Amino acid sequence: MPQLIEIGSLAVAPQPETLRVPELEKGVGCDFSSYLLVPDNTLDERIGAAVQKLGSDLVILGHHYQRDEVIRFARFRGDSLKLSQQAAECDAKYIVFCGVHFMAESADVLRHEGQTVILPDMNAGCSMADMADIGQVETCWAELDAVGGLGVVPVTYMNSTAAIKAFTGERGGSVVTSSNAARVIEWAFTRGQRVLFLPDEHLGRNTAFRMGIPLDEMVVWDPYQELGGNTEAALRKAKIILWKGYCSVHQRFLPEHVDRVRADHPGIRVIVHPECRFEVAQKADEIGSTEGIIRAIEKSPPGTKWAVGTEIHLVNRLAKEHTDREIISLDPHVCVCTTMFRITPQHLLWAVESLVAGNVVNPITVPDEQRRWARVALDRMLSLR
Ligand code: 13P
Ligand code: SF4
Repeated sequence: MPQLIEIGSLAVAPQPETLRVPELEKGVGCDFSSYLLVPDNTLDERIGAAVQKLGSDLVILGHHYQRDEVIRFARFRGDSLKLSQQAAECDAKYIVFCGVHFMAESADVLRHEGQTVILPDMNAGCSMADMADIGQVETCWAELDAVGGLGVVPVTYMNSTAAIKAFTGERGGSVVTSSNAARVIEWAFTRGQRVLFLPDEHLGRNTAFRMGIPLDEMVVWDPYQELGGNTEAALRKAKIILWKGYCSVHQRFLPEHVDRVRADHPGIRVIVHPECRFEVAQKADEIGSTEGIIRAIEKSPPGTKWAVGTEIHLVNRLAKEHTDREIISLDPHVCVCTTMFRITPQHLLWAVESLVAGNVVNPITVPDEQRRWARVALDRMLSLR
């Protein structure tokens, strides 16, 4: 066992002299503004030094859409499903989540006693998650209940707030991710006659259609209209009620983009994330969750050409890692998730150096009552692996 040195309230393993960064011992780290001025060429060394000092007290989780300068420090990288599994299984005292707010909230729900989840920039949110407000969802539920006899099971995408996950858990439903949506919807149909799918209309439609549910048995629920803009008869006919929400990144991909890459790159295979529009998914050769896209490209033979419909950082990384395949973005105009992009190396440095100094910045704390039911919804999903 290495000897431990106390820094602030934190016990860390001693580091070789070359990795010592004097600022670390001075208790820096409370104020982010000073980190804006940290020279780029020192960031890697300082992050690396702090990570080493924290040792097994720290785990950094990174979503595949993070920029390279950040994801290179992730002990585990993955999509939402993989990262939630990691969060549930890891023992580190501090989980620094390089992703967006709903992911860090889920990690906080799944963490063990005594662990703390940190989001390096609190402004890293998700516009899709914000499209399902808990008040709107409660109104929707009450309206569906008033119709009577619908037997609705709520299912919410990981990309939703902890409040929506708790709502779902309390009403007998589950969380889904893009990697397991079909399995969870199948499970939901064993518990009721209809599924209320929150908050991504496209993931819900693409998944349900591939499961054999025809489009005329799906309706869209617009929270700004009475009965979601539906008639009672349409709701009784529907098997899936799709919340009117979408990902601003994936919705940018259009059917015309598929036509263009096919014309410009004969023989190219098109693979898109299921958050893309139905018309785009229908034109693609394959639909894959983030991990599914990575797997499909990894197992394709050298020389394969791919046009990928997902966030640009992942597409660029795949292109760099597989130089014997031709990998391009389906959209010639960059599709970046601007909120994932908010996690900068400066934010990561601030988070980890603050820990070394004994300060926890940007902890994510889901209120107890929400945690309890959100955990039920997440556990239902994780038990269906
Ligand atoms: P997955 O991580 O489930 O593929 O979701 C993609 C996404 O949009 C994350 O915000
Ligand atoms: Fe939200 Fe889309 Fe960004 Fe994912 S890629 S965090 S769904 S806006």
